[in-house]
Amino acid sequence: MPLIALCAGDGIGPEVTEEAVKILKLIDGKRNFGFEFVDAPVGGSAYDRFGVPLPPESLEIAKKADAIFLGAVGGPKWEKLEFSLRPERALLALRSELGLFANLRPAALFGPLVDASTLKREVVEGIDILVVRELTGGIYFGQPRGVEDYEGGKRGVNTLVYTTPEIERIARVAFEAARKRKGKVCSVDKANVLESTELWREVVTGVHKDYGDVELSHMYVDNAAMQLIRNPRQFDVIVTTNMFGDILSDAAAMLTGSIGMLPSASLSGTKGMYEPVHGSAPDIAGQGIANPIAAILSAAMMLTYSFNAPDAAMDIEKSVAAVLDKGYRCADIYTDGTTKLSTSEMGGMVAKELE
Ligand code: IPM
Ligand code: MG
Repeated sequence: MPLIALCAGDGIGPEVTEEAVKILKLIDGKRNFGFEFVDAPVGGSAYDRFGVPLPPESLEIAKKADAIFLGAVGGPKWEKLEFSLRPERALLALRSELGLFANLRPAALFGPLVDASTLKREVVEGIDILVVRELTGGIYFGQPRGVEDYEGGKRGVNTLVYTTPEIERIARVAFEAARKRKGKVCSVDKANVLESTELWREVVTGVHKDYGDVELSHMYVDNAAMQLIRNPRQFDVIVTTNMFGDILSDAAAMLTGSIGMLPSASLSGTKGMYEPVHGSAPDIAGQGIANPIAAILSAAMMLTYSFNAPDAAMDIEKSVAAVLDKGYRCADIYTDGTTKLSTSEMGGMVAKELE
């Protein structure tokens, strides 16, 4: 029986995870995957119970599982903790322990939400971007790192490091993805300043030789940030480093109206972890008003990438689109004349549509 680890986490994490599970169970009822769900506490709530953000038992469950669903981690309550105990470390440890090097963050605009974006309709209409973010390397994990005493003050160090194989494998993911889309990859770097990303550009260009059918362009990250807002429709697949991907995917998210709409998949080749791109949103946690659509669409990505059921994923996406079409919204995407739903009402509405 396929085992799904549920790392609901902190803040709105548990609320949106519940809705994603609702949808997965519904799909399972129709298709008999035989999903078994096991809770794996992570983040600040795990720290409160077990004294660490990623208890060894949770890591074991994640390692054993066929797929992992993660809600969100973090919150002001744990911000002052020593670095290694902060909730975010759980997420980073899961990514690195499970080798989840390829982070796919699709930013597509659902038609009915075109006016929910802070950008003009003519800029965002029809956007469909896939950010492929390298997730287990770069400045997030490079050594040396830390803060040390230095000349009577202190010195903080982080290291941006990439090796040829790390760049090659993420480039392949991007080119393969582009083949199934519009056939365009834009590789984002800072090759004019950072040697490690000059290597990035070289290696991506080399890998491109195997993908003559895909169009490759390169862009500096500062320009990419600007182009995402100026003319986002020019992009199909964006492939970039861990930190640039972190930043650009938040920007891409806003094009779709709300970060509450964006799903993600983090893949190793054999295993996947699925999580909404939004964070734990402590300011609205516990109020039942969070948008569960990013979580529900992350469950859809799980069906595609971990359970080889893209048609089931498509059914979920269609149901979400239908619910939006009927004018149902959560608070983050609410506009005049639409109907505002709570987290569980939205999950229920998508479920009803699926049935
Ligand atoms: C993300 C988040 C994480 C990251 C944080 C919570 C560690 O911002 O998944 O984009 O920086 O990768
Ligand atoms: Mg981020």
